[in-house]
Amino acid sequence: MARYVPKVFALITIYALFKFIRLSTYWSRRKVKSGKLVPFFGELYGMIFGKTSNADTYKRLYNEVGNARYYGTYQFIWPVLVLKCPVLIKTMLDKSSVCFNAHRNDAKETVDPLWCRNLFVLKGDRWKDMRSFLSPVFCTGNLEELFYGVRIKARSFVRYFDKMPKQEIDVEFKDACTRITLDIISHMTMGVDVNSMTERDNRYYTMGKLFGDSDSKWRSLVFFSYMLCPIIPNLLGLTVFNKHLKAFFMEEVERILAQPIPDRGPSMLSFLIKEKHEGQNITAIDMAAQVFLFYLGGVENVSNLICFMAYELAENPKVQDKLIDEIDQYRSESLTYRLISDKMPYLKMVLAETLRKHPITTFTDRVVTKPYTIEPKMRGETPLKLEVGDSITVPIIAIHHDPDLFKNPEIFDPLRFSPERISEIEKCYIPFGLNPRRCIAQHFAELEVKIIFIELLKIFNIVKIPQTKFDISRTSFGLRFKGGEIHLGLKRRYI
Ligand code: HEM
Repeated sequence: MARYVPKVFALITIYALFKFIRLSTYWSRRKVKSGKLVPFFGELYGMIFGKTSNADTYKRLYNEVGNARYYGTYQFIWPVLVLKCPVLIKTMLDKSSVCFNAHRNDAKETVDPLWCRNLFVLKGDRWKDMRSFLSPVFCTGNLEELFYGVRIKARSFVRYFDKMPKQEIDVEFKDACTRITLDIISHMTMGVDVNSMTERDNRYYTMGKLFGDSDSKWRSLVFFSYMLCPIIPNLLGLTVFNKHLKAFFMEEVERILAQPIPDRGPSMLSFLIKEKHEGQNITAIDMAAQVFLFYLGGVENVSNLICFMAYELAENPKVQDKLIDEIDQYRSESLTYRLISDKMPYLKMVLAETLRKHPITTFTDRVVTKPYTIEPKMRGETPLKLEVGDSITVPIIAIHHDPDLFKNPEIFDPLRFSPERISEIEKCYIPFGLNPRRCIAQHFAELEVKIIFIELLKIFNIVKIPQTKFDISRTSFGLRFKGGEIHLGLKRRYI
């Protein structure tokens, strides 16, 4: 028996080598361009070894392939097609969405039900049903209802700083924004009233902070193990997000459901409870899965967006002065949903430009759900057949920094979103992704950020201080400040 061991070992090695060579030549055999990639690690090399940020890798590969409409990369040894041309992206992902209506997910529902049952991960009819249950949460009528709660939270956030006796206050913005966004999302998802600015160590904050643990080595290890060989983490029952975090949301939802009349105002949970009472098959796990995802989007994405916008305002005082002028024009009027959505065009432009320059979600992805062929349009292209299960990426950050699409992309210029100029860029501006799977909470997120800045800039100027450093994390998938910190000053406008 023992004499066969070396032979078996040699056969396995030859097979593995053959497989590796087949996979690593996947794109060249299909005549698809690729940028410079490190064998075995592919596009993940910079991030795994902390050499370059995910954003910089996307931009480099995007630029290396010149005017190609798409190009190939590898995540470890697995091929991924990256779409570059905005027209092609829209044609494929939006107009032919039935062929691309899912995100990549390798976790098993039995191992991680809270992750596998959230709207982002759901597929097919389960996704369609859940999207239709959740969409009314974001209709204008309900946003108007939610508006009042958000305004109260934003005002108590600003009051916290206003009570400080100093003329200029040093603020670690990421922590402050984690607190305010957490309070707002607790109100919006579960109708829970928390004030994390004053109750510094409340349990929502303690749990919510775990979402931002994106530089955690363990989380990265599990994440990459799912990319490399999902069978192993699935067998070992490993999950990317902390188990305590999920248990917490499950318990919260069960606690609320056990209340005699779980009236939660305009919150997301009350919509799901209503659907359940009307006979829809929605379980406590389904509810907790959506709450979990909303916290993830609502805390991590929004708090980072506020940090980037605050940084840009500090860096560009003229833009800040113009924005303050606009806010001051309406000072005597009561702040309403209508005022924010119908007036204040410059605020809208500043927010849009922040998300153009710093799209917090640097990319989005799709998995092919029905075979599709990209027909040749340019010289050198051949028909490219995509099979079910193939992976696709849209490099949002690289598109937003393409000088052919956005002139002088490194300059923060809100006026590129003015009515006279917006038509040049509209089709390439995709910070919230693409229909039909675009971000369901776009209008809520925008509303929330606008209210916070209106309340803040009524009283303070945002300024750079000696600790202010623009340093981007190299180990996080999304756009984040290094170490999850950004220090800025709040300087009183009136003495
Ligand atoms: C700065 C703020 C935000 C940004 C930049 C952002 C961005 C995105 C992007 C790029 C996608 C993927 C879209 C696609 O693949 O085409 C997405 C999906 C999603 N986002 Fe957001 N998001 C933000 C805030 C939020 C908030 C506050 C929530 C919840 C309260 C949220 C909930 C979701 C959900 C549920 C999906 C999945 C939609 C589906 O697959 O049907 N997001 N978001």
